[in-house]
Amino acid sequence: MRVGIIGATGLVGRTTLRILEERGFPVSELALFASERSTGERIEFKGEEYEVMTVGENWDLLADIFFCSVDDEVARGLLKGYEGDAWVIDKSKVFRMDPNVPLVVPEVNWNAVGESESRIIANPNCTTIPFVMALDAVRKVERPVRIVVTALQSASGAGKAALEELSLQREYLAADQKMPQDAKEVFPQILEANLIPQIGSFDKAGESSEERKLREESRKILGDAELQIHATCVRVPVEVGHSLAVSCVFEEKVDIKAIGDSLASFSGIVLVPDGELITPREVEGKDEVFCARLRYDPQDERVIHMWLAADNLKKGAALNAIQIAEKLTNP
Ligand SMILES: NC(=O)c1ccc[n+]([C@@H]2O[C@H](COP(=O)([O-])OP(=O)(O)OC[C@H]3O[C@@H](n4cnc5c(N)ncnc54)[C@H](OP(=O)(O)O)[C@@H]3O)[C@@H](O)[C@H]2O)c1
Repeated sequence: MRVGIIGATGLVGRTTLRILEERGFPVSELALFASERSTGERIEFKGEEYEVMTVGENWDLLADIFFCSVDDEVARGLLKGYEGDAWVIDKSKVFRMDPNVPLVVPEVNWNAVGESESRIIANPNCTTIPFVMALDAVRKVERPVRIVVTALQSASGAGKAALEELSLQREYLAADQKMPQDAKEVFPQILEANLIPQIGSFDKAGESSEERKLREESRKILGDAELQIHATCVRVPVEVGHSLAVSCVFEEKVDIKAIGDSLASFSGIVLVPDGELITPREVEGKDEVFCARLRYDPQDERVIHMWLAADNLKKGAALNAIQIAEKLTNP
């Protein structure tokens, strides 16, 4: 396969390169693209160096499959009206809710690809992916009437500038120095030694764009437009690894053992034994979504709670896209 990576110098792009190598994806040619800032930079892949290019005319003829990991505006400019033959797996939000574009987590809704004629496949948000995997496993036993979720999202979820800002803030706080403006550009408040209950922008009702994405994308992937999802998304001063506290409310008491079995047998989910914890530190670099603390609510057994954690750069982004590519090239 001729492979193209657009946004090759970013956090997701670099993770994509690492995983392609790790999994032995069949790469016959590699084309790497980024902004003008990175033109000429050399990146190593399988012992060879490749020069980073800007995206020029006819870029889509340079590969058979593209992994696109650039921000929304750049993706929109590049891909709106795309009519090329190459597959494009896009990580931005631009096409996720487009009814003509499949939004895919291979373990959950691979069928969406066959039902569409689009050459663009959208990769869901990094919080949506672990959430819908667990929810799909739960729904195989019983559909919850509502789900309440608090997502604790690491700094790398906002890209390399965000990670650099967190690191800078750490240095200033450790040195007990006043924070200059250039260490407060990405996040709406200081993140280090803090939490920020805002990801994206708020609408009139006070819901953030990230919270809306989590609900709408989950409904589309699960094919359940009525699913009641109540989300709060919080940025936390963790470098890599998103965690979610999830509560599912059912009509009647559910068999929690059946839910545990369904989670444990779901491809890509690891059910952590009772009494063991899983934190972002342990999930960094791992492929799977980890589920821990599965339990009944002590006051109402129609409610179950669980804790999820996954590497947002891997299953939350690059790995999910590569799994899509693997299925496209080897159905
Ligand atoms: N981080 C995550 O956990 C995560 C998870 C799921 C989805 N996503 C989505 O994936 C995308 C990339 O995220 P990221 O975290 O990798 O961001 P990032 O670290 O900020 O990287 C952005 C990449 O886009 C490139 N770029 C910027 N302008 C460009 C242009 N005009 N033409 C070509 N390339 C350009 C950058 O190149 P330069 O280095 O030259 O600036 C860089 O390679 C975003 O849409 C994000 O929402 C991220």
